[in-house]
Amino acid sequence: MADDLKKGLEGVLVAESELSSIDGDEGRLIYRGYTIDDLARGASYEEVVYLLWHGHLPNEDELAAFTESINEERRVHDDVLATMERLADADEQPMAALRTAVSMFSAYEPEVDAEPDDLGASLRKGRRIAAKVPTALAAFERYRLGEEPVDPHPDLGLAANFLYMLTGDEPDDVAAETFDQALILHADHGLNASTFTSMVIGSTMADIYSAVTGGVCALSGPLHGGANQDVMEVLMEIDESDLDPRDWVEQATEEGRRIPGFGHRVYNVKDPRAKILQERSEELAETGDSKWYDITTTIEGYLTDEKGLVEKGIAPNVDFYSGSVYYQLGIPIDMYTPIFAMSRVGGWVGHVLEYQEDNRLIRPRAQYTGPEDQEFVPIEDR
Ligand code: CMC
Repeated sequence: MADDLKKGLEGVLVAESELSSIDGDEGRLIYRGYTIDDLARGASYEEVVYLLWHGHLPNEDELAAFTESINEERRVHDDVLATMERLADADEQPMAALRTAVSMFSAYEPEVDAEPDDLGASLRKGRRIAAKVPTALAAFERYRLGEEPVDPHPDLGLAANFLYMLTGDEPDDVAAETFDQALILHADHGLNASTFTSMVIGSTMADIYSAVTGGVCALSGPLHGGANQDVMEVLMEIDESDLDPRDWVEQATEEGRRIPGFGHRVYNVKDPRAKILQERSEELAETGDSKWYDITTTIEGYLTDEKGLVEKGIAPNVDFYSGSVYYQLGIPIDMYTPIFAMSRVGGWVGHVLEYQEDNRLIRPRAQYTGPEDQEFVPIEDR
């Protein structure tokens, strides 16, 4: 392997960005200079997306105008609803339904003729995508349940409105705040695989719908966004096995299974987002079923104290506690990754537009290891 080959682009700098920064040794994440703790505890998801897209925290007037502009765009076209219904009938996976929905939104985009380098138009398109993703996802879930979709609630923010559209009931304050916080924690995270995918697409000056659709595709994999669903499935597997979580983990690691929700390309210590979600999971456990919180903390303790995994830099990531939080909020397990996508639209759009401001086509190379000078043989002689 060539000395300068960086498999998985590990540690390779490919762009400058003002959006977010991770200190993997200190376990610190900032969005435009603000710590994730301060934002998660003090801001709303809409404020954070405004910050990512506009470079500063909004004042009250700016936030009101931004929120209104999102709320005005929340409805999706009837054709999109009809497609969600057909996909639900066909037992499609929610991430695949979302991939189709985002791609389909562009058919009804009012600024479809805007030039690709009209970044103002791209930002407005991004805002429309962010506004419509929760509506399409909630409709898909309603159709799966054999129910009609619920219209967006005019007075609820993006997080609370999603829970409302999912169930038809206004969420209580704890559920709305917890979910809003989860969205903030997932909104951006440097050049992760899905953001980089969006940027690669954006760097060809393809439109923002293509870039976000690509982001959804990259996020769906189990090494990236798919891990939150895997964590909950593991917790349920442990619960059903009647094994002590420590024994289950021991057995799983002996079989060479990876523990979902552990390990990260950038963090060598516990992910700061996991710390906040752990607090939420603990709070929800106090009023609900503490089983899931207990299993997760037992696993974390075992892998840390007895297996020394954390010492090796394999620590809980954002997905480790988000699963049990969503479960306790009553969200279906296969909606966890789509929720991650719903939030990450903020980061994808922000990074694509930031990159396109000073665009250069992203085009790396591979070290060729195949044969040279092959003699071509016509098909009839092979
Ligand atoms: N459980 C057990 N061992 C692990 C785990 C894990 N979850 N993660 C990494 N390792 C080990 C791995 O076996 C390897 O050991 P060795 O060097 O002895 O072969 C070593 O750690 C390095 O692994 P790697 O795959 O080379 O590291 P990476 O930086 O490419 O992987 C990762 C990062 C997230 C893909 C990996 O940690 C993983 O598969 N974790 C489980 C899936 C997961 O939780 N993904 C969500 C990531 S955070 C949310 C997001 O950004 O989407």
